Amino acid sequence: MTSTPNEPLLRIRDLRKQFGHNEVLKGIDLDVFTGDRIAVLGASGSGKSTLLRCINFMETPSSGTIEIAGQVIGTALPERPGKQERRYTESELTRVRQRAGMVFQQFNLFPHMSALDNVAEGLRTVQKMSREDAILKARAQLDRVGLSDKASEYPSRLSGGQKQRVAIARALAMEPELLLFDEPTSSLDPELVGEVLRVIRALAQEGRTMLLVTHEIGFAYHFANRVLFIADGQIYESGTPDEVLKNPRKKRTQDFLARHNEFNF
Ligand SMILES: Nc1ncnc2c1ncn2[C@@H]1O[C@H](COP(=O)(O)OP(=O)(O)OP(=O)(O)O)[C@@H](O)[C@H]1O
Ligand SMILES: [Mg+2]
Repeated sequence: MTSTPNEPLLRIRDLRKQFGHNEVLKGIDLDVFTGDRIAVLGASGSGKSTLLRCINFMETPSSGTIEIAGQVIGTALPERPGKQERRYTESELTRVRQRAGMVFQQFNLFPHMSALDNVAEGLRTVQKMSREDAILKARAQLDRVGLSDKASEYPSRLSGGQKQRVAIARALAMEPELLLFDEPTSSLDPELVGEVLRVIRALAQEGRTMLLVTHEIGFAYHFANRVLFIADGQIYESGTPDEVLKNPRKKRTQDFLARHNEFNF
């Protein structure tokens, strides 16, 4: 399913997340349309991962709503003073996680499974595919990320770049409408970054809808049609890559970019 021109694929309203007394997200509003490629920047600890994790409900939002293709996730609970909590069922969240696939900094592959089985696992357990069909589909996904020849390798025998490409293949296998990347290259040796960014660039060229948390400012500039800078638990500044990365209007964005001035773009 895709969104209609006027209806965002993902609509976030007043999303808040707190851990104990630490309110990390303080009211995020965001519309993501089909085909958007959004780069999310911000200082360490600003809540970028928390935002992505709330979108696919690895973290439960404290309040606010997340809507995918017009469908609000969860059911409103009777309001308590100062709270707008919602109730989520596991089956609903399983569907959401298929629609919003996540790629992690640390790959999160199963060490005891081959690359092929890592990609096939969700197809079998979540989508209930037969082993034969799952393997067939998993092979096609490994092929897309250039790893056909590594299908039977275990993660310990793959480079970081290869592991991340397996993780991308695993996410793609579920045919998500939205791809969430959380610093997919920041744990890689510099010489392995390029092969992962090439895969992400190819996905962008296919018109996929993506949110990418990254510190690769130069890549973000060319990849994104929209850039968000997160600070103080909010979208502090947003706009086109030229607006936010070349001509930031606000002080904290300017300071952040000044600290990343080794990037040329
Ligand atoms: N599960 C958790 N329990 C308690 N606090 C958490 C949890 N997850 C995140 N936090 C806190 O929320 C804040 C935001 O963390 P988050 O990981 O979202 O930041 P980030 O912007 O992704 O940072 P980085 O660039 O270092 O990855 C931090 O203060 C962090 O300590
Ligand atoms: Mg993070």
